[in-house]
Amino acid sequence: MQSTSKRKAGKPDEDTAKKKQNISTSMQEKPKLFPDEQTDCQAKTQNHDFHKTFTPPEFEPFQLLFLLRRSIELTEEVLEICFKLIESTSGTTYKSSSLGWHPREKRKEMADPEMWYMIVQDKDADEGGLQSDVDVNPALFVGFLSFKLDYDDPPNDWRRVGYIYEVHLHDKVRGRGLGSFMVSQAEKLVHSTGIGKTMLTVFTSNNPARRCYERLGYTIDEASPEDRVTRRGIIHADYMILSKVVKLDKGHSPASNK
Ligand SMILES: CC(C)(COP(=O)(O)OP(=O)(O)OC[C@H]1O[C@@H](n2cnc3c(N)ncnc32)[C@H](O)[C@@H]1OP(=O)(O)O)[C@@H](O)C(=O)NCCC(=O)NCCS
Repeated sequence: MQSTSKRKAGKPDEDTAKKKQNISTSMQEKPKLFPDEQTDCQAKTQNHDFHKTFTPPEFEPFQLLFLLRRSIELTEEVLEICFKLIESTSGTTYKSSSLGWHPREKRKEMADPEMWYMIVQDKDADEGGLQSDVDVNPALFVGFLSFKLDYDDPPNDWRRVGYIYEVHLHDKVRGRGLGSFMVSQAEKLVHSTGIGKTMLTVFTSNNPARRCYERLGYTIDEASPEDRVTRRGIIHADYMILSKVVKLDKGHSPASNK
């Protein structure tokens, strides 16, 4: 699900820029969670090239191929297939939610040049010897995850995060741990840049997705909308922002607890 932040995607707004200038002051007032992170992440992460760090993983029991591409490396046809998958899995929920369903904005968000796509293809379906290890092939497509490096939501919007925008799988490959696996792969890529926090947004009603994220260690972020108490009773927020923070060692791997 999309980032729900109102600021312009990928770029801190003016307020954020001002806050960043004042970062040393605000950090004296409020200790950072992981002191190395701020200096480590600045500059390094803009336009980061994940092609260099990504090794296509294996995922048993399916014969799958994972391809990592920037949005600008995908054809319009492939982006549209991703869009249609989102629409089919979540369109109805969007429409009845406080966020609403806005196809034009969604397509624009998906085409953001800083958005990365992990596309999953079914190798078993590749009977014709297509170049499935090189090309994204709509006939073999079974799902995708998209993410980008961004700034955290207020009040932590000085901080870089990896924002997971979408994870959507065809029915036939769900319920076997693939969604969790792909989120873990995206986390590894984000961690390889020195960023220890990953975030995502999920509809409160989406129990399979929430279970998947909770199993991976995601918890409610402080930027998540709160329930509202009204005269008529409590109005529950229909989406939640979840996040996971890990401490990274100097080599950018999650530090062990020992
Ligand atoms: C949300 C979604 C991506 C999750 O992917 P998934 O592969 O089905 O989910 P998981 O990785 O959590 O799979 C775990 C399920 O497989 C089972 N499983 C089987 N083998 C497993 C393994 N080796 N490891 C982990 N789980 C395994 C688990 O028991 C679990 O079932 P449960 O949730 O009923 O307990 C997927 O359901 C989907 O595409 N949904 C529609 C789109 C959507 O809602 N996206 C989320 C937008 S925020």
